[in-house]
Amino acid sequence: EKGGYDHFMLKEINEQPRSINDCLRGRLNASEGQLTLGGISDYLSKLRQADRIIIAACGTSWHAGLVAEYIFEEFCRIPVEVEYASEFRYRNPVIHEGDILIAISQSGETADTLAAMELAKSRGATVLGVCNVVGSSIARISDAGVYTHAGPEIGVASTKAFTAQLSVLSMIALKVAQQKGTISETRFREMLAHLEQIPAKVEEALKSEEQIRGISELYQDAKNFLYLGRGYNFPVALEGALKLKEISYIHAEGYPAAEMKHGPIALIDEEMPVCFIATRDGSYDKVVSNIQEVKARKGKVIAIVSEGDVLIPKMVDHVIEVPNTHEAFMPLVATIPLQLLSYHIAVMRGCNVDQPRNLAKSVTVE
Ligand code: F6R
Repeated sequence: EKGGYDHFMLKEINEQPRSINDCLRGRLNASEGQLTLGGISDYLSKLRQADRIIIAACGTSWHAGLVAEYIFEEFCRIPVEVEYASEFRYRNPVIHEGDILIAISQSGETADTLAAMELAKSRGATVLGVCNVVGSSIARISDAGVYTHAGPEIGVASTKAFTAQLSVLSMIALKVAQQKGTISETRFREMLAHLEQIPAKVEEALKSEEQIRGISELYQDAKNFLYLGRGYNFPVALEGALKLKEISYIHAEGYPAAEMKHGPIALIDEEMPVCFIATRDGSYDKVVSNIQEVKARKGKVIAIVSEGDVLIPKMVDHVIEVPNTHEAFMPLVATIPLQLLSYHIAVMRGCNVDQPRNLAKSVTVE
């Protein structure tokens, strides 16, 4: 049942070229310039006219929501607020009729996410669901939605569900942008072509596993880890840190790289591994400066870089290359080495990666 892998988590990490493909299939056709999202087709005009979009989720699904915020704002020019479902539901939020709430959930059973949807619905908002489990509570309460089709996720740490969520949210954003006219037809087609190539790029990124195993050996006894990224890669930093702490029990924090100098920089010494997501995008030069700041304080730097990068390898302790893509889709690729890093560190520490202590696959109590 683990398909020859030692753990479900490793199986699910390796499944991603296929699970992303399953998610895109039948929806995206780059050569025809077509994108069809049957589940929400009746709601596209509402989305196009929305004054704002609220995204509610927890944990890894919340990280997918953060990436979606950047994509929706860039391509659709609609303001987006990403909310921890648990905070949103209890703070008497301002919700208008015409607002759209998108709930993201692998299990479709997360109590806080479900309650956030009920609240939004009771105040007249439209609620859309991005779920993996078909027929789940969240799927049923949604006005409409798009399934992620990643297949069953057994490992408690979410991996393939996350990349499928990013794929679905990217498609929704591109579709809305096309309808709204905030993206040109040429750019729209280019973006579809980028998205279609993601499964092959994820396949390529998986090839770094042996190298990542070597890096894991060096850092398996670390007490702390920092993960830093900017722009689209900021949520990837958060996700990398969450994956590491939940399965290896190493304390890890993710930050937007520029926030480092507002506090976390005080933590950096020769004992502190810092993982930078430093791919070639609009924030590249800024991230390079942040790397220099860490190296000046003797931090150990592991950098996820775009293939062919010649600058960063000269500055850091370890580089892991990933294929390049449009920056909006980089989280789909850049998250792969971070999943593998946390997996291998956890295995080396003798942790139960598929069922980490104190965690449940779906959190059906608040
Ligand atoms: C992290 C993880 C959790 C879930 C969170 C939300 O690896 O698995 O943080 O992402 O509990 O769960 P869903 O997506 O089922 O609502």
